[in-house]
Amino acid sequence: MQIVFLKIDNEEVTVLEEIKKREQFGSKIGFILAASGSAIGLGNIWKFPYITGENGGSAFIIIYLLAIALIGFPILLSEFLIGKSTQKDTINAFKTLAPGKYWHFIGWMGVVAAFMILSFYGVVAGWTLSYALDAATGTLSSLAPEEMGDYFNALISDPYEPILWQAIFMLLTILIVVKGVSKGIERWSKILMPLLFVLVIIVAIRSITLPGAEAGIEYLLNPDFSKLTATSFLVAIGHAFFSLSLGMGTMITYGSYLPKDQKLPKAALSVAGMDTFIALLAGFMIFPAVFAFGMEPDQGAGLVFVTLPAVFQQMPLGELFEVLFFILLAIAALTSAISILEVPVAFFTEKFNWSRKKATWIIGTLIFLVGAVASLSYGPLSGFTIGGLVFFDQLDFIASYILLPLGGFFIALFVGYVLKPKKAIELAELTDSKVVSKYWIFTLKYIAPILIFIVFLNSTGLLTKLQELIK
Ligand code: PHE
Repeated sequence: MQIVFLKIDNEEVTVLEEIKKREQFGSKIGFILAASGSAIGLGNIWKFPYITGENGGSAFIIIYLLAIALIGFPILLSEFLIGKSTQKDTINAFKTLAPGKYWHFIGWMGVVAAFMILSFYGVVAGWTLSYALDAATGTLSSLAPEEMGDYFNALISDPYEPILWQAIFMLLTILIVVKGVSKGIERWSKILMPLLFVLVIIVAIRSITLPGAEAGIEYLLNPDFSKLTATSFLVAIGHAFFSLSLGMGTMITYGSYLPKDQKLPKAALSVAGMDTFIALLAGFMIFPAVFAFGMEPDQGAGLVFVTLPAVFQQMPLGELFEVLFFILLAIAALTSAISILEVPVAFFTEKFNWSRKKATWIIGTLIFLVGAVASLSYGPLSGFTIGGLVFFDQLDFIASYILLPLGGFFIALFVGYVLKPKKAIELAELTDSKVVSKYWIFTLKYIAPILIFIVFLNSTGLLTKLQELIK
């Protein structure tokens, strides 16, 4: 960006030209930690274990790994290349690569998805903060195991408390993003991510070494394919997307701050690898403990907020591990939330020349307000539903099951067909590796779009309608 100042003093005209340098990550490791911080979030530690539990354990894990390899990795690399080669926010990145065409609508969809996702993500993150405090003050351990469900419901339906926690969480997110890419996002990712890794490993070791943990380990390692349903495949693909922060321009935006010497395929491999590793570790943190205390692994969304507190109660030093667990969950959520907020912030600062401070505060506050309504939709506003879903679930549904897969679908088509393989391989820095580039182009052109399309049909209910028609 180039700013030209005209300064007139005493008939003398001075032209000051200032080249405003675009922000960048200061180091390779800073970038990898920030992008992994985006990927590793509530999706890995809250959602992955419960959908694994609902879909029968390790057989589900295998198809999830396939989804990461066939869709996640190829699209992650595509997003990085779109960002790095243009050094622009998501919308302008598409405008630069395909001038005069309409592809930049992918960027717009991403900005809208970011607004929606952070609104409800901030609410769930607020619950984790509240639970961290409840764990520390001993409130959770004073409850009877059968009271946990009611306790959780009372929290999320309260008109004030969850909004207060959401406000605190959004404030933390805003304070980091306001500081910018290297002094805010990178600096905090470098502090928070190693802390997160250490905490996850400590809690996982505690869980695996409990007497009776073997049943949980077995559950994670011995695949039972009879438990898989058609929906399991769709859930695995949808989750690969959400978990790698794909389809809404997060990784395009982070890629656009990449230092020149960072090699893209390696970066994509490290981020996808770390994200998957932490999701698996989250399984080892939760299931061995759940089995050791005779709880059920398939309790759905309440696994972390209802089943786990009851597990911690029975564990030696459980209160300590419980505090650590909810703190690590909040940290994971925070490094993801900053990456979501950065998408619209980058766009508004670059497109409308807003200062970072102005963009972050205005957008962050708006997202907080929409999120507050989402929070209320589990309480006083629960009567207002559209298509049977309350506002919170609507936001989640439209963003995670419609906008993200559509975004990913178009990104795959854009890189696979519009950029043309030769140019794409060059921009992705894959010219020296024939096998990887062949694999990458093939998955982008043929596998990813088809699989995503099926997920999309399913999540919008069109697949069921088609099946009925065929019958
Ligand atoms: N990947 C994050 C998680 O697993 C969520 C996220 C989605 C972040 C989309 C950014 C963009 O929790």
